[in-house]
Amino acid sequence: MHDAGDYVEHLRRIFDRRRKQKAKGADDRRASRILAILGSARHNGNTAALTDAVFQNLDNAEVVNLIDYPISPYDYEKKNRRDGFLKIVKKMAKAEAIVFASPVYWYTMSGQMKIFFDRMTDLTDRYKPIGRSLAGKSAFLIATSNTQDAPPSFEPPFADTARYLDMRWGGMLHLPMGNRLAPTEKSQHLAKAFARHIESAMAASAEKTLNCQQRKTEQDTQHSSQI
Ligand SMILES: Cc1cc2nc3c(=O)[nH]c(=O)nc-3n(C[C@H](O)[C@H](O)[C@H](O)COP(=O)(O)O)c2cc1C
Repeated sequence: MHDAGDYVEHLRRIFDRRRKQKAKGADDRRASRILAILGSARHNGNTAALTDAVFQNLDNAEVVNLIDYPISPYDYEKKNRRDGFLKIVKKMAKAEAIVFASPVYWYTMSGQMKIFFDRMTDLTDRYKPIGRSLAGKSAFLIATSNTQDAPPSFEPPFADTARYLDMRWGGMLHLPMGNRLAPTEKSQHLAKAFARHIESAMAASAEKTLNCQQRKTEQDTQHSSQI
């Protein structure tokens, strides 16, 4: 026989569960307009500093650091459902533009970023609807290294992957940062210019999408009037 105390406890658990589900739902609906995916081996390093300098000039922009969302390498047997990958790609699906941010580690993207890119293979099968939702969004790259220019082979994997997913490639901001952990006045200036570039590329992309939609509606109307 249960007493009143058990029953109250039972109700409290139900209300608690519902409150948590509601809070989770609200969190899932909250979307950032511009999402940066940062793949540095440290939280407050050069790439984080440069990304912050760009994002200070953008509204409704969020930086997601891959080291806060442990992601396991690509698995042909798909045994990695419970890692951080899905949380990040759901955010990508809701954003209008994606900014990848990676230091140059051994002439290429960081290991954290490469694991994330390998996992994007899941967007072509297991999470295909999310993959398709990326089409038409703009993608950009922020990079830091010790050399004046990024290696020539650094940007293409980002640009090619974005294009493969039917995203619009918006280009890269690369800065040599050396051992400096804070952007200089010159890099603040370049960061601001890149933020302006992101805004105008997004506006151009939105206009292109609208024109395509209008053209399609006109074609559909013509087609149905001919029938
Ligand atoms: C593992 C590792 C590999 C690196 N490889 C290169 C490289 O190939 N070329 C280069 O110019 N700098 C290289 N660097 C320097 C970093 O690109 C540079 O310091 C960068 O700004 C670090 O960004 P972070 O603070 O976000 O890690 C390397 C640094 C590390 C830790």
